[in-house]
Amino acid sequence: MKKVYLETFGCQMNVSDSERVVTLLENEGFEITKDEGSADVVIFNTCSVREKAEHKLYTRVGQIRNDPDANKLVGVMGCVAQLEGETLFEKDRGIDFVVGTKAVGRVHKAIRNAESGTRNVIDLKGREDDYDWDVSHTARHSPYVAFLPIIEGCNKFCTYCIVPFSRGREKSLAASEIVRQVLELRRGGVKEVHLIGQNVNSYRPKSESGLEDFKGATPFSRLLRAVAATGIERIKFTTSFPRDFHPDIVDAINEYENLCNWVHLPVQSGSDRILRAMRRGHNVDSYKKRIDHIKASPRSLSLTTDIIVGFPGETEEDFEATKDLVRYCEYDAAYIFKYSPRPGTPAGELADDVSAGVKTSRFLELENIQKRNVSRSLSKSVGSTFSVLAEKRSGKDSRHLSGHTTCHKVVNFNSNGASEGDICNVRITEAKRNTLFGERI
Ligand code: 5AD
Ligand code: SF4
Repeated sequence: MKKVYLETFGCQMNVSDSERVVTLLENEGFEITKDEGSADVVIFNTCSVREKAEHKLYTRVGQIRNDPDANKLVGVMGCVAQLEGETLFEKDRGIDFVVGTKAVGRVHKAIRNAESGTRNVIDLKGREDDYDWDVSHTARHSPYVAFLPIIEGCNKFCTYCIVPFSRGREKSLAASEIVRQVLELRRGGVKEVHLIGQNVNSYRPKSESGLEDFKGATPFSRLLRAVAATGIERIKFTTSFPRDFHPDIVDAINEYENLCNWVHLPVQSGSDRILRAMRRGHNVDSYKKRIDHIKASPRSLSLTTDIIVGFPGETEEDFEATKDLVRYCEYDAAYIFKYSPRPGTPAGELADDVSAGVKTSRFLELENIQKRNVSRSLSKSVGSTFSVLAEKRSGKDSRHLSGHTTCHKVVNFNSNGASEGDICNVRITEAKRNTLFGERI
């Protein structure tokens, strides 16, 4: 049995694709190993959202090829594969096969071809009809948490972003199919399902029979209600796109307890000028209106975001506006990125004129403001009780479990006899950096 080692970079969509590939390869007679050394085939599932992520691939391939004893096939899938295609075979890097983002259902064929001696196997074509999105029987990163892609691709074309090119146009999975898979996952013991997509709230399936009409103004919040009605214990969803974030989503969360109280709403910048240059389709005011609505929700919702610092032309004044917005929103978490020009995107044509030093200092400054937001938010939690899904046992002390709250905060807690997979009531006793500590009651 040939052994395959699969390494995943990047977003949840890649994690989900890797889960599907693991299942596919196991069904096709391969063994999946966690030990790279003993593997016959190494596959990298790649990310190209920033240059650094892309370089990781070349570093890792170099490490494998530098080992004279390693006689392995090396394959590349994911966004770098889709974008670079044939060019990955150049420069004698030692890559044997390349599989695009829509061909993940055919990875086994690429491996077989490479094994039989065909050099430079490449498959960047669209999905075959027989490739479905069913994740209800795939391998998972956790037995209790499942990622379910409900929309793939992106039509937004923010000027800095490569995703619309690497993942293609938006395509939504039929609501009836999503509900069916969630029911199946629930039967299989999954407690928490994450509905994932680049922009989940742009969900817009083709008309379908069976379920109510999902057209109208609010197909995503209707989907949320339909998924909530399955009775699965927890439903989370990421990522939301501000322009399409309909207030009805907040209403749905207030109607159904199993819709989790967490919204990830990337703002990217707090300057209208930069938001226009990014072609985000929202401005600071329209974003703040959505935030005000989220903050006014009767059920308290946690709020997280993504921000880019150092976009071309970003001045001190623009950056000040971003700092103001981060203070205003009091995010529970913010993922801050230094702008990285992506060849082929409209912003990639602009001069990358904010120096590396300025990007770093803005990054650190913003991180400091955000740290204060986080410590405020976490210390407010001390003394409160949260429902926590026990996802894994602590490596250090087997009496301790760790997991997430419904608002997606990490909690380490004294299990008091609870097991992995249990949903526990945990009283928070301490907040340290990004983590809460507590005791099951
Ligand atoms: N440079 C830096 N960050 C980027 N992101 C997307 N493209 C780039 C880029 N070219 C960030 C955005 C997005 C997150 C997933 O990655 O903040 O929300
Ligand atoms: Fe990229 Fe914008 Fe699409 Fe998000 S919405 S994936 S940032 S183009």
